[in-house]
Amino acid sequence: MNLDDQDLLEEETEDFVDVSDQGYNTPARFFHWGMAILIFGLLAAGLYMVSMAPGPEKFQLYGLHKSFGLLVLWLVGIRFVWRHVSGVPEPLSTHQGWEKILARGAHIFLYVAMAGLPLSGWLMSSAGEYPVSFFGLPMPALMAKNEFWFGAMKETHEILGFVLIGVIALHGAGAFKHHFLDRDSTLDRMLPNAKRWAIPVLGVMAVIFLVYGALILGEEEGEDSLSETTQITETSDYPTKELAPHEWQIIPAQSRLTITASMSGTPFEGEFKDFDGTIFFNPQDMSLSRVSIVINIASLGTGSQERDQNIGNTEWFDVENFPSAIFESVEFAQGEGNKYVAIGNLTIKGVTLPMTLPFTLEMTQNKKGNAIAKMSGTASINRLDYGVGQGQWENTETIADAVTIGVSVTAVGAP
Ligand code: HEM
Ligand code: HEM
Repeated sequence: MNLDDQDLLEEETEDFVDVSDQGYNTPARFFHWGMAILIFGLLAAGLYMVSMAPGPEKFQLYGLHKSFGLLVLWLVGIRFVWRHVSGVPEPLSTHQGWEKILARGAHIFLYVAMAGLPLSGWLMSSAGEYPVSFFGLPMPALMAKNEFWFGAMKETHEILGFVLIGVIALHGAGAFKHHFLDRDSTLDRMLPNAKRWAIPVLGVMAVIFLVYGALILGEEEGEDSLSETTQITETSDYPTKELAPHEWQIIPAQSRLTITASMSGTPFEGEFKDFDGTIFFNPQDMSLSRVSIVINIASLGTGSQERDQNIGNTEWFDVENFPSAIFESVEFAQGEGNKYVAIGNLTIKGVTLPMTLPFTLEMTQNKKGNAIAKMSGTASINRLDYGVGQGQWENTETIADAVTIGVSVTAVGAP
């Protein structure tokens, strides 16, 4: 230790009983606090994400949880090696026998948890056939699909997580007891030397916040421009073309075409951003009504990058050969009030099958006096009937075969 360091240490710890050693070395302190922050974040994110309603945000958080969890796994490996290469300081001589045993037991468990949590998480995802990636880099599955191990690893992950919270509380309480009650140097020998660390740590934190802030702002701007495009498409801007009698023009920004499917029992939604079609509809005379909708398959987004990358595969939609799905009506029927039924054919991946779409219709007017029709309805199909999801995906345990199609279309008609 050089003289300056000695001065600093004595200055900072003059109230404490033991100033005889330098405590943990700098890498050990970095590992300790860096990983402590990561683990607090993972525990909070883990508990929060399981309670979230299914949706894109939930899947994103799962992805981040897995990436940061794996980071802990790599770091604990390096930390463990470093601990053995560089050694750790002896417990302070002022510590009681029981304190040493308790602290050592806690440290051993903390290491077990730092390795066991990510490993059980990775095994759980592998056994459940869920993808695992490390910040975008796909990780191999550690085992083949196996219901038993999926359940066992999920349970292990959860129990380890809850025990870890208890042990961290005990471990932290011990550190604070030594600091505030015994007033010894236990905590100081793990704490960063504030004066030496302040500038680099603040610098790194500032860079992280700036990058993070820029990313969030970038994302929000992306969303803004999206909502701008939806705002400029007021119903009064339509129709943008000459309409034939009983012809309707779809207003894309106010129309949605979704699918709801389920992955290992958890529903997820996908949306086709790009679809268009021709609509002739006369509520007074159904025989004059016909609809043809063309859906661009590649525009399907399900909120999960990993899932979306596979949509075009031959196993799924084979987008290269079958870029569009098409719904063509054959006839319409009117039910009670504003309820209708469209009977037609749906073609996906070259397979054409009959489909019935019950829907409701609401009629209003835009400022220019054009009729505005809002229709919404849902229909259920079986994806396997269309050959969507072949090979390993024919097994419906991971992705169910029942798919609900949700249609809500706003269209403008002649004045
Ligand atoms: C130190 C690292 C980790 C910590 C502290 C941690 C902690 C947690 C916690 C507290 C939960 C909530 C448990 C519950 O209430 O069900 C959770 C859930 C989960 N974790 Fe981790 N985790 C870590 C690493 C990982 C890794 C590396 C993966 C996968 C590669 C992973 C995958 C999951 C999954 C899929 C869930 C949700 C389980 C469910 O749906 O019930 N975790 N994690
Ligand atoms: C409330 C926050 C925390 C405080 C105040 C704290 C404090 C300390 C202190 C003072 C030591 C040195 C103990 C000694 O010399 O006997 C220590 C060691 C240790 N802490 Fe923490 N800690 C905290 C959070 C964590 C977390 C979240 C983890 C990991 C899950 C962790 C893992 C460890 C390990 C494994 C050691 C042993 C040192 C080693 O061998 O690398 N700590 N901690």
